[in-house]
Amino acid sequence: MLKNDLFLRTLRGELTERPPVWFMRQAGRYLPDYMKLKEKYSFFDRVRQPELAAAITVMPVEQIGVDAAILFSDILVIAQALGMDVQMVEGKGPLLPNPIRTHADVMALRPQDTQTELAYAIPAIHAVKDALSERVPLIGFCGSPWTLLCYMVEGKGSKDFSIAKQFCAQNPELAHQLLDKITEASITYLKMQVIAGVNAVQLFDSWGGLLSPDWYRRFSLPYLQKLTNAIREEVPVILFAKGAWFALKDLSNTGASALGLDWITPAAFARDVCGPETVFQGNLDPSILLADVKTVQEETLKMIRSFGHAKHIVNLGHGVLPQTPVDSAKAFVETAKAFEYGHTANLK
Ligand code: CP3
Repeated sequence: MLKNDLFLRTLRGELTERPPVWFMRQAGRYLPDYMKLKEKYSFFDRVRQPELAAAITVMPVEQIGVDAAILFSDILVIAQALGMDVQMVEGKGPLLPNPIRTHADVMALRPQDTQTELAYAIPAIHAVKDALSERVPLIGFCGSPWTLLCYMVEGKGSKDFSIAKQFCAQNPELAHQLLDKITEASITYLKMQVIAGVNAVQLFDSWGGLLSPDWYRRFSLPYLQKLTNAIREEVPVILFAKGAWFALKDLSNTGASALGLDWITPAAFARDVCGPETVFQGNLDPSILLADVKTVQEETLKMIRSFGHAKHIVNLGHGVLPQTPVDSAKAFVETAKAFEYGHTANLK
């Protein structure tokens, strides 16, 4: 039995004594122990070797005190599973040297190989669960099909993903075939994660906000809906669609358990759009963690209060920045853990 199930109780919509806290990219480059492993092993070794994935996943639980762990991996493992070459280039980010551009490129992708290609995730998740020994829940994840398409067509990170959007504008039918293949592989992968023991999943639509509302409904939402439908009866699903404030109502109608918010979306706006029952996750600007501890505490408190007295998971509005001081990350987490909702008496 889980010793700390605050995160899962919040996802079920229960009233809790305080908000749970974890943050995106919590196992990463701001942690000195992560940097030591990074010197010795390549990114995909760290993802694939169970003892490395486990050591990295539990670091923020032990060193920062978060209420949930997130599996150390990357959304781009789906592109690999489909047959693409994916490299992590130091200082530059992901590189896919042979991006998808033609009908033949899409046809060559093999969602039927997902189980074999991602088989390493099962022993990795088992090792993480052992290392966690029921201290906190484990979050699994995958990217949204739209965000995967962005990288698979563009071939690298980009400010506007204009090649990916051009591909969709010129070949909408082919884009949908590609999105279908990514969706199929992602559902297989999420189900593998659930069977191996993850307690919840988050779908990262990091580039959803690059789409117009109309295009969001065409190229992103239907696929997020398929993933959510396939998983929500097994574990709670969190949808994080960065910049897609215009789609909040649609996202809340998917049946997901919680919606992640970035810092440009005010809590009051999100509550107005979705109503009082929706559980939100977020949304401190990660740059605030670059300030002194006192500022971090004040801004974190302000952010927690903006969500009211329930139905909130404390998180950043996007991934933690690599130059974040460890003490600021701790101050963020400790501020959430010291917060009391005030209706604790009613819970007993
Ligand atoms: O949150 C966690 O701690 C779990 C691990 C995790 C990573 N990537 C590890 C990683 C998760 C959940 C991701 C998701 C991911 N990957 C997203 C969605 C979330 C988001 O940030 O928008 C995206 C868009 C990617 C693609 C990706 N992977 C990029 C753009 C980069 C390079 C930029 C960067 O932050 O370094 C990566 C590499 C990556 N994924 C690193 C880590 C810790 C850094 C590489 C390294 O340490 O060697």
